[in-house]
Amino acid sequence: MLAKLVNRSGERELMDDFHGNIVTLEAVLSDISRVNKILGGNRITIHAVAQLMAAHPKEHYTILDVGCADGAMLKAIAEYCRNKGIVADLIGIDLNADALILATKALADYPEIRFMQQDVLTLGEFQLDCDILTTTLMTHHFTDSQLTVLLRQFTRLASMGIVINDLHRSRLAYYLFKIFSLVFLTTRTARIDGLISIRKGFKKKDLLQFSRRLPEMQHSIQWKWAFRYLWIMQTKSPQTL
Ligand SMILES: C[S@@+](CC[C@H](N)C(=O)[O-])C[C@H]1O[C@@H](n2cnc3c(N)ncnc32)[C@H](O)[C@@H]1O
Repeated sequence: MLAKLVNRSGERELMDDFHGNIVTLEAVLSDISRVNKILGGNRITIHAVAQLMAAHPKEHYTILDVGCADGAMLKAIAEYCRNKGIVADLIGIDLNADALILATKALADYPEIRFMQQDVLTLGEFQLDCDILTTTLMTHHFTDSQLTVLLRQFTRLASMGIVINDLHRSRLAYYLFKIFSLVFLTTRTARIDGLISIRKGFKKKDLLQFSRRLPEMQHSIQWKWAFRYLWIMQTKSPQTL
């Protein structure tokens, strides 16, 4: 039977109710990081962050990665900044305490990165401001109504721009991922969640609909290989308001 992909699925991922130990979690997160690395997820976000920094030159940036898990994306951003001589403080937040233990251990050589166990939705307005907010493979976990609240929260936290990198809900992506996961993924959880994630992912029309609820922001929504949407939001300049 063909996968139902017309509407966003409301299923929960195994990771949403994860009760495994930290060793199992490490294996699942390293599978997810492999997907981001091989299928271009890291490159897409870094390129967008670079674009925002070029458009808003500053001596120092604060970058917040929401749902940072094992910190793999922050590591890639830190390396980009080091290579370019860009001074940046990087903060990762995640609900999952075990993921943050793994992140802190893996990134001990990156003093510019710090982690906080935190639900992004409960962050107060002045508790954690940043220039750029990034989030990868996180927004699809939320239902449409939760997403409206989440996106509003993102706009409160980031002064310069928001970079959302998430999945395209596509039949081709779904069946290609099945093949990819057999070759490249080691954990059953990442294989199953990967397919649920695509069913919970987005079509461009979904993202355009969400973007219309934030008319004070300027939106760029682009499809990127492999089956990602890159959504960059910036506060409208006085000329474009
Ligand atoms: C699929 S993982 C993506 C991890 C990482 N960004 C990546 O691309 O490899 C989603 C992460 O979002 C975190 N998360 C979900 N809801 C959250 C919330 N309300 N606040 C902070 N983190 C959240 C989860 O704990 C999980 O680590």
